[in-house]
Amino acid sequence: MERRSDWYDHPEYYEAIFGTDTAKEMDFLLQVHQHHGTGGSLLLEPACGAGRLVAEAARRGLDVVGYDISEPMLAHARRRLKPSWRRRVQLYHSRMESFAEPSIQGQVDLAFNLVSTFRYLDSEAAARAHLESTRRLLKPGGVYVLGFHLTDYARTTPERERWVGHVGQDTVVCNTREGLPERRLRRSPMRNRLRITGADKDLLIETEWYFRTYDLTQVRRLFRSAGMRVLAMYDFDYRLEAPLGRDSLRLDRLFVLQGV
Ligand SMILES: C[S@@+](CC[C@H](N)C(=O)[O-])C[C@H]1O[C@@H](n2cnc3c(N)ncnc32)[C@H](O)[C@@H]1O
Repeated sequence: MERRSDWYDHPEYYEAIFGTDTAKEMDFLLQVHQHHGTGGSLLLEPACGAGRLVAEAARRGLDVVGYDISEPMLAHARRRLKPSWRRRVQLYHSRMESFAEPSIQGQVDLAFNLVSTFRYLDSEAAARAHLESTRRLLKPGGVYVLGFHLTDYARTTPERERWVGHVGQDTVVCNTREGLPERRLRRSPMRNRLRITGADKDLLIETEWYFRTYDLTQVRRLFRSAGMRVLAMYDFDYRLEAPLGRDSLRLDRLFVLQGV
């Protein structure tokens, strides 16, 4: 078995697992956009990865800006764009902590950041800097939709998820483990294992990192300090008619944010 250590160096396997709900996610983002936002046509995806949502937005005739820290992920994003979509898409190599492209200041109608990517920002200062710079990119009335799991600090067992996907004839099995949260350090140890098997293939890509942790009080304080207010909350069932109430216990959260 061959071993590698960074799943973002292998965008095709990442997408085989996370690309399956893309149309449903874009449907929901656009519903939120119509209901809570401006309904306008400029979208922004911070940490857009291999570009599944960027391509989906362009396919639907929207203008979209994306950026990511990983060159292999961006290269995959560029490759997948059909020639007729390219004039609608701008991709940048940049970081969530500092992206502030001058040409789109105050121009973005809808920004979105799903699948817990926001939790890569590993300090309060980094998270606040990201929220503040994204707020400055939004048009008045524009919204930032942020989707990630809140942390239950009382949890006593690791969380595991398993998915299976395919790339051509190869099978991709993905196992993700979130260890116990370290409350004082505000982080959870994460591990992802992608095992790819096929006729001539047996590959294990094992990636380890920390995700920052938030309970609802911590995240509300952060949003306030970054000048953002929560317009609505949803869960990962993506139903506009079922917003979460203030007392909801759901940990999977989609926050619809707007500058104050
Ligand atoms: C879970 S993937 C999500 C990709 C894409 N948003 C999607 O929904 O498929 C996380 C992405 O975040 C990127 N990333 C991690 N830390 C980052 C940072 N500080 N700034 C920009 N991108 C970052 C990674 O390179 C990776 O492409």
